[in-house]
Amino acid sequence: MEFEVVVKNRRSVRLFEERVVPDDILLKLVEHASLAPSPGNLQPWEFIIVKNKELIEKIVSTTYSGNVKTSSPQAWIKSASAVIVVCYLPRPVSARYGDEGRVPGLLGLGAAIENLLLSAVNMGLGACWVSGFRPEELSKVLNLPKGSEPISIIPVGYPKEIPDAPPKLPVDQISTIIK
Ligand SMILES: Cc1cc2nc3c(=O)[nH]c(=O)nc-3n(C[C@H](O)[C@H](O)[C@H](O)COP(=O)(O)O)c2cc1C
Repeated sequence: MEFEVVVKNRRSVRLFEERVVPDDILLKLVEHASLAPSPGNLQPWEFIIVKNKELIEKIVSTTYSGNVKTSSPQAWIKSASAVIVVCYLPRPVSARYGDEGRVPGLLGLGAAIENLLLSAVNMGLGACWVSGFRPEELSKVLNLPKGSEPISIIPVGYPKEIPDAPPKLPVDQISTIIK
């Protein structure tokens, strides 16, 4: 698919078909994520791909809707064929850059996630970037070691419903060219 089409067709997809996404496609998403830039090329990330339905249910139980951390879980995630939990590995970043490295390190994760989302569109998949979850609870559910922080959940599947394009700010309103 042409890049212009991929980037313009990306939506936050929240309803998926039952069709299973094969492992090689899920690994291709991670491969594309892994090509993203990161500070010092430290690649301080880990991608945990969960296909097990019971575990997905447990992951969903750590999520919440809106801004209130105790509100109801984002149940729509259960329709995803897989959930990719993207984790930050702070140790290599703080070893090289100290505390100052945290923000650039997390920005690297953002770049990797966007690569993953665009790759999903390119392969006819849908996905959504989810950060409404309680990280301590999710760490327990996945039995994550201390050096791995869950930052985002990306439900992935074949889209059942693709939302209309939400309004985006016009380019001339968000940009300045200084000559
Ligand atoms: C860091 C981040 C966190 C998000 N968290 C959630 C979330 O917890 N649940 C959800 O349904 N959507 C979540 N979204 C998706 C946004 O709601 C969505 O990107 C926005 O409404 C624009 O729609 P679009 O992605 O289709 O352009 C998140 C997006 C980002 C970038």
